[in-house]
This record gives sequence, C-alpha cells and structure tokens, in this order.
Amino acid sequence: MKTVNNTTYKGTTVSVYDNKHEASIAVAQQIADLIKSKNEAGEKAVLGLATGATPIEVYNELIRMHKEEELSFQNVITFNLDEYYPMEPTAKQSYVAFMNEHLFDHVDVVKEHVNIPDGEIASDDVAAYCEAYEQKITSYGGLDLQLLGIGRTGHVGFNEPGSTVDSLTRLVELNEVTRADAAANFDGIAHVPTHAITMGVGTIAKAKKIILMAWGEGKAEIVQKALESEITTEVPATYLQEFDGVEMVLDKGAATKLSL
Ligand code: GLP
Repeated sequence: MKTVNNTTYKGTTVSVYDNKHEASIAVAQQIADLIKSKNEAGEKAVLGLATGATPIEVYNELIRMHKEEELSFQNVITFNLDEYYPMEPTAKQSYVAFMNEHLFDHVDVVKEHVNIPDGEIASDDVAAYCEAYEQKITSYGGLDLQLLGIGRTGHVGFNEPGSTVDSLTRLVELNEVTRADAAANFDGIAHVPTHAITMGVGTIAKAKKIILMAWGEGKAEIVQKALESEITTEVPATYLQEFDGVEMVLDKGAATKLSL
C-alpha cells in the first residue's frame, strides 16, 4: 500500500514516501502524465534529466511503462544536467553511457532529441557551446520538468558551493568531496575529471517544475540544510527555496532530519 505524506514548507512541496521504490514510481508517473498530456496536445515534452544512483528506479519504471503500457517517448526532448569534462562519450563513466544504459537504449526516444553536454568540446569552444545549450533549451520553450538529485556538498547538477543563483550552463571545477564520491566509479580519485559542464542554477530555476529526489539517511543532513537553512551559495540546493514549482520527493530515511 502506498503511503505518502505531503507537506508544504516555505513554498516547497515535500512528499515523503515509505521507501525509494514507491517514491520513484510516483515520480515516473508524473513524468508519464506530462509526456501523455503533451502528446495529446500535439506538443513536445521537454525533460531535464539527471544521472547518479538516485534516478535509476525512476528510469526503470519509465522503461517498464514503455514496454508494458505503450508509453512512447517520440514527442520527448531531453536535456541532461551535466557531463564530466573532459570525457569521451564512449567511456563507461560518461553520462552519455549512463543515460544509454539506464534509459535511452530501452525506449523509443528519437536520438536527435537527446541533448547531453559534450565532454569533448575543445576548450576554446566551451563558452559558445554552453551558450548554444541554453539557447537550445529556450528554443523548445524551456524545460517542462527538471529532475534533480543532490550531492553531499549540496550541489545540484554540478553547481558546487560558490555557484550563483543566476549561473547558466558553463564549465566548472569539481569540489574534492564530489570527486571523492565519484572515485569508486573511476578506479580512484586520481582518475576523476577535475571539471564538468553543467547547467547553471539559473537554468534549473527556469524549469516549469523541479523535482529533487533524495533517498536514505546518508542524504538526511544535506536535505535538511537544503530545505531549512538560510539560502546560501555554500549549499546551492538552498536556492530552490525561492523557486516556483519545486517538489522535494524523499523516502523516510532522507526525511529523518527535517523539522516538519
Ligand atoms: C553527481 C551528479 C548529480 C547527482 C549527484 C548525486 O554529482 N552530477 O547530478 O545528483 O551526483 O548522486 P547520487 O544520486 O548517486 O547520490
């Protein structure tokens, strides 16, 4: 049986589920509803997607809906939040490989509709490339829905502490905590890229709906800070407090430190 506890805290909807499985199914259902309603209106659904362990079950459920319930991704445009830099798309640690493995290879999304920051762009061309990424999002009418996880530093995408609220897609230097968290995937921290290309906080802010997901007690402290502490560049996720259309979807573990 599904148990969900919905609260609004300082304008943010906080939905706490018994476990990450139920939470992920509910998020996938929201995405499927958006895709279907846009399809019925003859429009594209523009999704901002995230990588990391957190969204994997959401993607699994979307794949299941595609296979068993004929959910089609033909009208879906996707923009991923970020990619390591430099990074070859064929490398197993690339976010291109991640998205193919966990979603794109299993659904009928149109290849040309998939956008992931290019980890191979020449350094001289990065600034123009990032501006074009922003413009491409705008050209589709903006993001209908942005999925987010949260890193231990309070980063969203790769917007590390120090990121400004109006930051746009750009090349950033990764925090040592973030690089340490990625070390296992790269056979040691020495192999983790020092940089990444990420959508900015300002890019995320423009999404019509934002869903930040977090599972497990390991995320409880940063979730509490993101929602309840003062808005500060030291914890970029706190910026979400002042954005419209934000839903925080948590399991019980991630919600343990909230004062709600
Ligand atoms: C990486 C990604 C973020 C993600 C974060 C948390 O840094 N760039 O987008 O939210 O990791 O990852 P996980 O979901 O594995 O905890």
